[in-house]
Amino acid sequence: MHTSQSAVAPAAGNEMIDRKTILITGGAGFLGSHLCERLLGEGHHVICVDNYFTGRKENIEHLMGHARFEMLRHDVTFPLYVEVDEIYNLASPASPIHYQHDPVQTTKTNVHGAINMLGLAKRLKCRIFQASTSEVYGDPAMHPQREDYWGNVNPIGPRSCYDEGKRCAETLFFDYHRQHALDIKVARIFNTYGPRMHPRDGRVVSNFIVHALTGEPITIYGDGSQTRSFCYVDDLIEGCLRLMNSPDPVTGPINLGNPSEFTIQELAELVIEVTGSKSTFTYLPLPKDDPTRRQPDISLARQHLRWAPTVALRDGLKLTIDYFDRMLSIGTRGVRFEVARATSVSRFTR
Ligand SMILES: NC(=O)c1ccc[n+]([C@@H]2O[C@H](COP(=O)([O-])OP(=O)(O)OC[C@H]3O[C@@H](n4cnc5c(N)ncnc54)[C@H](O)[C@@H]3O)[C@@H](O)[C@H]2O)c1
Repeated sequence: MHTSQSAVAPAAGNEMIDRKTILITGGAGFLGSHLCERLLGEGHHVICVDNYFTGRKENIEHLMGHARFEMLRHDVTFPLYVEVDEIYNLASPASPIHYQHDPVQTTKTNVHGAINMLGLAKRLKCRIFQASTSEVYGDPAMHPQREDYWGNVNPIGPRSCYDEGKRCAETLFFDYHRQHALDIKVARIFNTYGPRMHPRDGRVVSNFIVHALTGEPITIYGDGSQTRSFCYVDDLIEGCLRLMNSPDPVTGPINLGNPSEFTIQELAELVIEVTGSKSTFTYLPLPKDDPTRRQPDISLARQHLRWAPTVALRDGLKLTIDYFDRMLSIGTRGVRFEVARATSVSRFTR
């Protein structure tokens, strides 16, 4: 492991921490920006790499002046040479609207990006974390989804660039582990929500909140009885850190998500209640490829990481709604762009 920049730094309280230099790809995105913040808070140096495809400067501008924070505009499909102690690989568009915008680039980001980051980790002999996804299970025939389920994925459909890109990245991680003894950590992340999501990235939580706050009707596909599980971002980041800091033999893949299931109708009603909106509901036919259930089995995370989500949906929604309320009233450059591009395809519900 590269240690030249390691030092011992005081953390909050009196305990001393091992200060590392940590690379986060996709660090200007929704999850990445929270991870940057959390690792800086723990006393580490953070190098954030992002090409701003779906990430925004607004997500990290409050970190820009920080002495231990560095931002590199870089596309992970090209090799990167930096000296770090750990790598979190998060770079990839994550919502269907974004990953279907340029599907070839999505596959490249996931596959070439993984190869480049794994090559870097191999050279540095450092630990590397992969943000994989519940989408590797495709349209699952097993409920809830356990890590030993191999999934049901269409290799040639419009979602395949993301699903298969992430599956191939997992393959690469495990081959680098077997072939080069690389220290890997693979998390399969389920639906996560919270401040800094895109206002109109087509995901159900952001869609409902933005529609409720702007007084537009909330569109529900199907009869609203399909279920989803929603994990608040702070819980997810805690799970990622616990996995990264777990003993070597814990490689994953490990599911990280909230196993509490809610129907889409329940979510819509909760959003209306918390926002106090007068928005009405409209119902449209369910898209053909919309799974009726998506729920993680988090037994492995409980067992190996002692991790489970703690934030109730109502509490997480309040924090997320406050954020969207502020964003919509400020109307930043990045937000206007996303709103304009995303409205025509807002049928996606996950
Ligand atoms: N948010 C979720 O619910 C969820 C669920 C499952 C998996 N994930 C995974 O977690 C990671 C982060 O997701 P997110 O929700 O924060 O999405 P996001 O779109 O907000 O963040 C992704 C970041 O990657 C950057 N990026 C994309 N292509 C890049 C490239 N070629 N080079 C450098 N940077 C690039 C984007 O600009 C963005 O900042 C992704 O890998 C995603 O697949 C997220």
